[in-house]
Amino acid sequence: ILHRAIAIDGPAASGKSTLARILSKRLGLIMVNSGAMYRAVTWKVLQLGVDANDRLAVVEALKGMELQCGVDGLSSTVAVDGVDPGDELRSEEVNANVSAVAAVPEVRECLVSLQRDYLKLGDVVMEGRDIGTVVFPETPYKIYMDADPTVREARREEVGEVDSVAARDHADSRRETAPLKIAEGAAILDTSGHTIETGVAAALEILVSQG
Ligand code: C5P
Repeated sequence: ILHRAIAIDGPAASGKSTLARILSKRLGLIMVNSGAMYRAVTWKVLQLGVDANDRLAVVEALKGMELQCGVDGLSSTVAVDGVDPGDELRSEEVNANVSAVAAVPEVRECLVSLQRDYLKLGDVVMEGRDIGTVVFPETPYKIYMDADPTVREARREEVGEVDSVAARDHADSRRETAPLKIAEGAAILDTSGHTIETGVAAALEILVSQG
């Protein structure tokens, strides 16, 4: 592998996207939001009227989907059968069903492979739940972000999103395949008491120490 990856994992609303966006800008890295890929599959599953908890039906639906993952500038893009779901990726319905779809091993296998393909395009900062454990376990650059549950719930409410952060974290941490956990070699960054600026500074210090 010629290119390098920064892996950022952690529970919902821990600050992963904010950090990834800033690192992408400052360091010129491709920013990959792996959650958007799980959301896109979930969006299509719901569009097809498939029960997200019916694993076999989800696998059948997945077989018929064409997923297109690319970049626009330095940001990852995702489309299903030629359609970019846009804001619908963050709908209440997708929030409520994405953990079930993301627990399906076939879905993960398919998306992990697409996620690894981004390294062909350049250096990346990728955020998700299993980036340091499964997608890029060999990278030295790993940050596990966390924040108090009350702080995380408040962050979602601030942006007006209907999202059961606690339920998703519970499901994402307990699933059998690639559960959310602290990767070997990851540095833990708790952002509860941080501003964006001090959080970014702490992350840069971690990355320098890992390099
Ligand atoms: O990051 P975001 O909150 O948008 O992710 C949405 C959901 O996608 C998570 O709750 C999780 O179920 C799933 N996901 C995952 N593995 C990743 C990224 C996201 O299982 N690497």
